[in-house]
Amino acid sequence: MGEIVDFQILKEKYHKKYMTTPAKVISITSGKGGVGKTHTTVNLGLALTKMGKKVLILDADLGLANVNILLGFKPGATIADLLSGEASMKDVIVKHSSGLDILPAASGITQIINLGDEQRQILLSAVGELGFDYDYLLVDTAAGIGDSVIYFNQAAEEIIVVINSEPTSLTDAYALIKVLATQHGITSVSVLINRNPVGADGRSTYAKLVAATEKFLSVRLKYLGAISEDEVVAEAVRSQQPYLSLYPSARASIDINKLAKKIVEDNSPRQSQGGLQFFFSALLENA
Ligand SMILES: Nc1ncnc2c1ncn2[C@@H]1O[C@H](COP(=O)(O)OP(=O)(O)OP(=O)(O)O)[C@@H](O)[C@H]1O
Ligand SMILES: [Mg+2]
Repeated sequence: MGEIVDFQILKEKYHKKYMTTPAKVISITSGKGGVGKTHTTVNLGLALTKMGKKVLILDADLGLANVNILLGFKPGATIADLLSGEASMKDVIVKHSSGLDILPAASGITQIINLGDEQRQILLSAVGELGFDYDYLLVDTAAGIGDSVIYFNQAAEEIIVVINSEPTSLTDAYALIKVLATQHGITSVSVLINRNPVGADGRSTYAKLVAATEKFLSVRLKYLGAISEDEVVAEAVRSQQPYLSLYPSARASIDINKLAKKIVEDNSPRQSQGGLQFFFSALLENA
């Protein structure tokens, strides 16, 4: 059982300590399932790690093709164990050989959303155990407009909506952005095209989404780029290794490196709400 902590004191403490370099929390999300969120999260995380950044991946999806499968490890303790007092945050975080840290939260996601007072205290003190020495926290969400998706997107500083050129991927992305914008006050969303056919300009897919959103919603979209359709992705699934490690010079790998560079070089003003500690705070406040 975690010690009882005062939420306000904890928040102020972490704010003071991490004000200068808070982790940037980025959610990777989509309307339609299977568009490539998990591959993007894992490979983007790895690309950022290779650029010297410290990255924590939060697996916030209960689906099958999740982070531990793509990285070939079995999660030990989960957030659920943390909340029942059977594990500490250090037990839960997986230090993967690739250099990535992973919080395999999957089986605890529902609990995070429905925390009672006591569990809230446990999670807060567990957050206190974390080093907070991360530059980025990447959150691999589930697809759609379910509670957990909305919840994690709301708590993120940047939301990356992954789409591909399939019409349903666009309409489902629109539906997600609409809910985020009209019901949850989200004013800007980044868009990443995945499985971009070789030779195609990702911007034409992006333009279709912009046309719909600009017409009906007051939300600003930002084009983040495109990841090519590449057979190395299927190979990565089979060998349970990120395609960036397996084939560093493949098309998709070159694209993901470009994306990582863009994210690192993004010097738009940080939101004061940003940071790992505030991510958890936002989760707890919304609970
Ligand atoms: N760039 C790509 N090139 C070729 N195939 C890809 C690419 N990205 C993803 N895929 C294919 O799409 C599948 C789904 O990818 P992934 O599991 O990352 O999607 P997801 O959005 O996380 O799915 P879910 O919504 O189920 O969590 C992969 O197993 C692979 O077959
Ligand atoms: Mg996934």
